[in-house]
Amino acid sequence: MTQRHTNKSIIVTGAAGAIGFATCEVLAREGAELLMVDIAADRLAARAAELSAKGHRVIAHVADCADEAAVEGYATAAMQAFGKIDGFFNNAGIEGDLAPTHEYDIDMFDRVIRVNLRGMFLGLRFVLPHMVAAGKGAVVNTASIGSERGLAGACAYNAAKHGAVGLTRTAASEVAQKGVRVNCVMPGVIETPLLVGMLEQMFDDVAAGMKKLGEVATLNRVGQPREVGDVVSFLLSDEASYVNGAKWEIDGGALATIRNDI
Ligand SMILES: NC(=O)c1ccc[n+]([C@@H]2O[C@H](COP(=O)([O-])OP(=O)(O)OC[C@H]3O[C@@H](n4cnc5c(N)ncnc54)[C@H](O)[C@@H]3O)[C@@H](O)[C@H]2O)c1
Repeated sequence: MTQRHTNKSIIVTGAAGAIGFATCEVLAREGAELLMVDIAADRLAARAAELSAKGHRVIAHVADCADEAAVEGYATAAMQAFGKIDGFFNNAGIEGDLAPTHEYDIDMFDRVIRVNLRGMFLGLRFVLPHMVAAGKGAVVNTASIGSERGLAGACAYNAAKHGAVGLTRTAASEVAQKGVRVNCVMPGVIETPLLVGMLEQMFDDVAAGMKKLGEVATLNRVGQPREVGDVVSFLLSDEASYVNGAKWEIDGGALATIRNDI
């Protein structure tokens, strides 16, 4: 097993969720010490305990990623625990309700933007200064295939995820020459509770809906959280030293093609 993250300290938000935790597992196995951040305290404690039991150095830190003081708090906690922040997976997110734009609930719109876009900005706002001061670091933001396409019913989610690419590119241009890289991943249809939450609003039969959505990928299936984690780990590693401001599609080929065989 590659130990490409030995002696690295990495913050992961949404760490109690499917993609966040799968990424924590990959990063920890590859040698990183982790500050695991999530708002879901019980789930976070359980997942951190799972990694600790395997001998990994992890700290569970409960925080609302959309709250300014809480975000400053998790960046400070990482500095106090580890003395540095080498990597940051800025990943927490919610799906929000699905409804057409012309009927979309305005409070729900604000809620989704607050977590998915403001939360991502705040992460950059409070973590990047530590990396810039150290003259090194790597960040991966979680965007989505919804950063590139309109997904009917998901105006708030899509707007936030389009914004995630804008935040990534802007920050990448600002800190590149200070030794810090900022990229984003664009997961496609990944089998997680967030996806199930969306499918429940779209289909009576969630399993059939999942299979149908999997067919948009040339690989003809949905993806698994670990398949995102592996790419995130690479982007946070020195092996990606010439990758900056990029969008990495992890979607089984969905965005690249129009399937004409189904
Ligand atoms: N599952 C997919 O198909 C898919 C596709 C594209 C992008 N994504 C993105 O991947 C990321 C992870 O989602 P997932 O699929 O693993 O879902 P998930 O629901 O399993 O994980 C999301 C985690 O974020 C946490 N969270 C939510 N709001 C928070 C807040 N305010 N503060 C701190 N933590 C908060 C949740 O408690 C949860 O543990 C999200 O940004 C999502 O938009 C998912």
